Amino acid sequence: MPTESRRRVLRTLLGVFGRGHRVPEDWDLGLAPEDAAFAQALLGLCLRRWGRLQSWIRPRLKDPDRGMPLGSQTALTLGLAQLAWMEGVSDHAAVHESVSLAADPELGFPPHRGLVNALLRQAAKDRRGLREDLDQRPAALDRTPFAERLLDAALPGAAPDAREALWARLQVPPSPVFRALGTGPLPEGLETHPALEGALRLREDAAFPRAWLASGQGMVQDLSSQALLAFRWDREPKRILDACAAPGGKTTALAQRWPQAEIFALERDPRRLQRLKQNLEARKVKAQVVEAEAMSWLAGGGKPFDLILVDAPCSGSGTLRKHPELTWIGDRIDLRRLAAQQDALLQSALQRLAPGGCLLYAVCSWFPAEGFRHLEHLPPDLQPQAAWPEALLRRVDNRVGFGPDPLGWDGEGFQAFALQRG
Ligand SMILES: C[S@@+](CC[C@H](N)C(=O)[O-])C[C@H]1O[C@@H](n2cnc3c(N)ncnc32)[C@H](O)[C@@H]1O
Repeated sequence: MPTESRRRVLRTLLGVFGRGHRVPEDWDLGLAPEDAAFAQALLGLCLRRWGRLQSWIRPRLKDPDRGMPLGSQTALTLGLAQLAWMEGVSDHAAVHESVSLAADPELGFPPHRGLVNALLRQAAKDRRGLREDLDQRPAALDRTPFAERLLDAALPGAAPDAREALWARLQVPPSPVFRALGTGPLPEGLETHPALEGALRLREDAAFPRAWLASGQGMVQDLSSQALLAFRWDREPKRILDACAAPGGKTTALAQRWPQAEIFALERDPRRLQRLKQNLEARKVKAQVVEAEAMSWLAGGGKPFDLILVDAPCSGSGTLRKHPELTWIGDRIDLRRLAAQQDALLQSALQRLAPGGCLLYAVCSWFPAEGFRHLEHLPPDLQPQAAWPEALLRRVDNRVGFGPDPLGWDGEGFQAFALQRG
């Protein structure tokens, strides 16, 4: 019987490669911490090195053009990844667990259990050789046309070396960045992040601060999101709207910066709304949480807002380090539809922006169509502000916004701009 952690990894990979799904947020929920850590590492290896692992498997099949059913192919991939890169896993566990996954009619393809067994036993004879062989295969094997487009967007016109350097960087799982929400003592092992005032990171040997996070005294928030919300603006907004709020990281940061403001947080997805409510409650954030589609809600009329955040739904291309599955499913993303939706959200939000108010638009994406291109259709009384330190600014023609250099910044890929109503 295969362990639950390996079953979850296999199921998740079948969702990605079989159905084009993103990795669900709760895919590892309920696993014991050490099992979850193992499963996350294994899933990451398979997603980041899927192409080179298939290039090892394919020529060893009787009919490489026909390939093999996804269930047995994935069980085999899982075993290979463990043999190559997970030294703590014994040969026996890597081989036998994959064979039993292949033999499970719900997940694998039982007639292939013998083939999976034979190929993994062969690989297990020289694990170091397997690792070296896989490591030296070209990085391009793990890329898709979507990944190439993403690199073009992140580093327009860059030399091949810079593209490769960025790709290598994107293959490293991100380390969590934290933010303290109260003034209480910090858990052991959290220290100041060198890249940004107020951000915290965890010392390598330190335990993950679960209890501190659960008690609402701190949160995990990417470096880019933290830097984004530290934008320069000297007004004290009385009314703030977070138009796309769940799971609430930015609502929390807004409340922390302007505790006296009246904050509205909108979310259209009922499940995500529950998470938003729970997070804000645990962090003692005072906000009016509204289940609503932002455009209809905004069109319903009411008092204007001094500050509006539109953290718009997007491709998430800037989050590839955290979501390596995007490489394999990104081509299914309809960028045009997303860009039209973002533009409509932006325009409706602008209708409710008070004179002298500021609208902050953000996407965790490098594609210009989702970011700076929206600046092309703005009325003249709205000027994007250079509201961040020079090193975090990106200038496109005569427009300016938040867009850190992906090679010199450890946060997610973002495009954002702050529009000040004159
Ligand atoms: C990028 S996420 C927001 C992340 C959030 N601001 C944070 O920092 O934690 C976008 C969220 O907006 C919601 N959303 C997307 N379109 C929306 C719309 N038209 N109206 C309201 N919510 C929307 C999505 O369900 C999703 O939860």
